[in-house]
Amino acid sequence: MNICVIGTGYVGLVTGAVFADLGNEIICVDSNEEKVRNLNKGVMPIYEPGLEEMVRRNMSDKRLFFTTSIQNGVEKSELIFIAVGTPPKDNGETDLSQVKQVAGEIAEYINDYKIIINKSTVPVGTGNLVREIVGKNKQKQVDFDVVSNPEFLREGSAIKDTLHPDRIVIGAPSHKVAMKLLELYSTLERPMLITDVPSAEMIKYASNSFLATKISFINAIADICEKVDADVLQVAKGMGWDSRIGPDFLQAGLGYGGSCFPKDTESLFHTAAKYGIDFGLLREVITINEGRVDHFMGTIEGRMGDLSGKVLAMLGLAFKPDTDDLREAKSLELIERFLKKGAVVKTYDPVAMENCKRVYPNLIYCENPYEAAKDADALVIITEWREFKLLNLERIKAIMKQPLVFDGRNIYDPRVKKKLGFEYYGIGR
Ligand code: UGA
Repeated sequence: MNICVIGTGYVGLVTGAVFADLGNEIICVDSNEEKVRNLNKGVMPIYEPGLEEMVRRNMSDKRLFFTTSIQNGVEKSELIFIAVGTPPKDNGETDLSQVKQVAGEIAEYINDYKIIINKSTVPVGTGNLVREIVGKNKQKQVDFDVVSNPEFLREGSAIKDTLHPDRIVIGAPSHKVAMKLLELYSTLERPMLITDVPSAEMIKYASNSFLATKISFINAIADICEKVDADVLQVAKGMGWDSRIGPDFLQAGLGYGGSCFPKDTESLFHTAAKYGIDFGLLREVITINEGRVDHFMGTIEGRMGDLSGKVLAMLGLAFKPDTDDLREAKSLELIERFLKKGAVVKTYDPVAMENCKRVYPNLIYCENPYEAAKDADALVIITEWREFKLLNLERIKAIMKQPLVFDGRNIYDPRVKKKLGFEYYGIGR
């Protein structure tokens, strides 16, 4: 199939690469000239395992193209995916300006029947909005349909998630239109839900908000565990073995960050309010998440007292492992607090340091975790990178000023730590 993907952010770029890999011809459009120039040289704007190889392979096989010309993409394609950014406004509402702009441009160049597919995370009703904009502004008397096909990929495992999704959701105005998308996805052999556009739009927000709810729930449980000498890892395990609850997204810690959960929970709360519904449960999920850094700071200061002049070795900056993404990362909030308190921050992250240097150029950036730990008053774990789990802890202990660990992601077993002579503080244990 000839497909155009507008927007080469996380979702657009991965989707384009995977569709090309499945044998389709893909034109990826982005208005950012530098990004397109780099992509044409095989340079990725993001770190994502497996992406660069896939993009390069499909470019050299002439199935994947990058351009700034939306006209070229629209005219040559039967399916047009919108995958532009939908950032939050200050009041939590979703900013749809990029989606509206793209819809206007599609209207300008639409030259034949097309299916326009919203892959960006957009509030319910946006499918209608796109239909209206294209319908009102199209320059040629041609038909088109608008579909909602939300994306469920996670950063860090984006390729795998796109090739093996738990489900594919297709919100289409008619069965005939849905069949076209079904044809595109059929090679993946995954369960497909064919539904209407508003339901598909709701599925995306309801899913992300439910996952965020699980995280805040277990974090609230963790706070109780700390008071009653229970271990939240055991509690989560015992809960998760109930198949109705499931073990996923029950890891207590510093809470959720990234470009999706924080903005999507706010957006759904805002949508509910718009229709006169006070979604108090979701408000509380957000509030609990926002309190996680305070809670962690309380633990650190409770033990260390005044942080002024203390050397803190922060391991991990990315909002989660296997990405260099710092959007809504808890690390940034913590760095801000540490610096305000006069602490010296040494840090190491396998891939996110370059991004962090742009925001905080004056931290001490280290070559490896050991360099960060050297002469530190405390080790502070922020992101659960696998390599941190495998550190030589005896070596770490020998080079630190004192063997003190604050583990914001519960990556270590407190008993092992104690055996090695560390003073250990996890979350909810
Ligand atoms: C999330 C969803 O998982 C994807 O299905 C969805 O497609 C994506 O948002 C999106 O809307 O685009 P992502 O933000 O990449 O994906 O990351 P997750 O793996 O879901 O993690 C989100 C945050 O929750 C991270 O900060 C992570 O550390 C935190 N988390 C996750 C926990 O604190 N505890 C857990 O048990 C799980």
